[in-house]
Amino acid sequence: MKTIRFGIIGCGLMGREFASAAARWCHLPGMTSRPEIVAVCDANPTLFSWYTGNFSSITQTTADYSELLENPAVDAVYCAVPHHLHGEIFRAVIDAGKHLMGEKPFGIDLAANDAIMESVTAHPELLVRCSSEFPFIPAVQRIGRMIEQNVFGTIIEVNAAFLHSSDLDPQKPINWKRMVQFNGEYGCMGDLGMHVCHLPFRAGWVPNSVRAVLTNIVQERPDGKGGTVPCETWDNATLLCDVTQQETGSVFPMSLKTWRIAPGEKDTWFIEILGTQASARFSTKNPKQLEFMSYSPGDEQSWSVLDMGHETTFPSITGGIFEFGFPDSILQMWAAFLFELEHGRPFSRFSGCATPEETALSHRLFTAALESHRGNKTVAVKFS
Ligand SMILES: NC(=O)c1ccc[n+]([C@@H]2O[C@H](COP(=O)([O-])OP(=O)(O)OC[C@H]3O[C@@H](n4cnc5c(N)ncnc54)[C@H](O)[C@@H]3O)[C@@H](O)[C@H]2O)c1
Repeated sequence: MKTIRFGIIGCGLMGREFASAAARWCHLPGMTSRPEIVAVCDANPTLFSWYTGNFSSITQTTADYSELLENPAVDAVYCAVPHHLHGEIFRAVIDAGKHLMGEKPFGIDLAANDAIMESVTAHPELLVRCSSEFPFIPAVQRIGRMIEQNVFGTIIEVNAAFLHSSDLDPQKPINWKRMVQFNGEYGCMGDLGMHVCHLPFRAGWVPNSVRAVLTNIVQERPDGKGGTVPCETWDNATLLCDVTQQETGSVFPMSLKTWRIAPGEKDTWFIEILGTQASARFSTKNPKQLEFMSYSPGDEQSWSVLDMGHETTFPSITGGIFEFGFPDSILQMWAAFLFELEHGRPFSRFSGCATPEETALSHRLFTAALESHRGNKTVAVKFS
């Protein structure tokens, strides 16, 4: 078993998810490499005790990320910090010669993403990937294989969405994800956008143009100290894109919704692909169920529903009939990262983590979406 020694920069919500995935690596009996957490860094040192109390392998805690990057015992870094720090810290990680799993949106804006891409290009020897776990859900992996097998025929429409609802409560106090200086001008697109783009981009469904409608529904929030402050980030983004299907040359509409205010939706990731020969639909609301319809002329048009269970790409000790959940998708995503680090290639097309190039596509799309909304017009998405 090969050990990859990891440092974590940003020990909040997502830092703990990775550490917990590393702690249950024994779930994945087929893996021939494993992560070991050896160093943690956060501006808030009160977070360290959870890590040091649970991981005896940690030998460094620091509030200064450059100290972690100077540590020769660190081979790779998971960086899960607020968006305004991605540009500076992601570049520093790569320039220090460490492999990187960076959180989305991989730069607060296009300029930051371009700067990160310079370091990526300068270090082809490193594996640099962007965290995006939803494609690792068994039903979504199955959809990926259907795309590879070209079962859909001519694509009629694709709809992808990531929907939250907790911001419907105007009394929810503001945090950095709702402040432009930390979260970015993209607002909800920066937070949720890579999640909806990953599968379509991997399928080759890259928008030619976008018409975006962005809304700021709750415009002020409690500041958590008894006062109220403006809340200026976009809550909901609805993007209508036109996409050329490479295999047929035909053009189809694709909607991408990233909503923080979607009544009744706690954390719903959704994909729907409608084609002339087959259609498929999956939502995390019903995490076991894959809906599928195949069609030939003269057939009845009848949707079938398949319970997927725990049919994972990277074999797991969990019984095949048991439900798959969010921490499982994180574990599978990390298995994909470690597999690619060890073998120099992803296990399969749809079981590879999101690439820096895919983040660059997403930044061009979100930047065009901002221009579209500002000008009330359709904007061409320019991919250099
Ligand atoms: N993949 C997913 O499903 C998913 C889910 C939520 C968030 N995220 C992404 O993860 C990243 C972090 O989000 P989170 O929810 O974990 O946020 P969080 O606020 O829980 O954690 C961020 C941590 O970064 C620390 N930090 C701030 N400045 C720092 C600095 N200079 N040096 C070191 N640490 C610093 C903070 O103290 C905090 O503990 C963001 O990019 C976000 O978009 C991804």
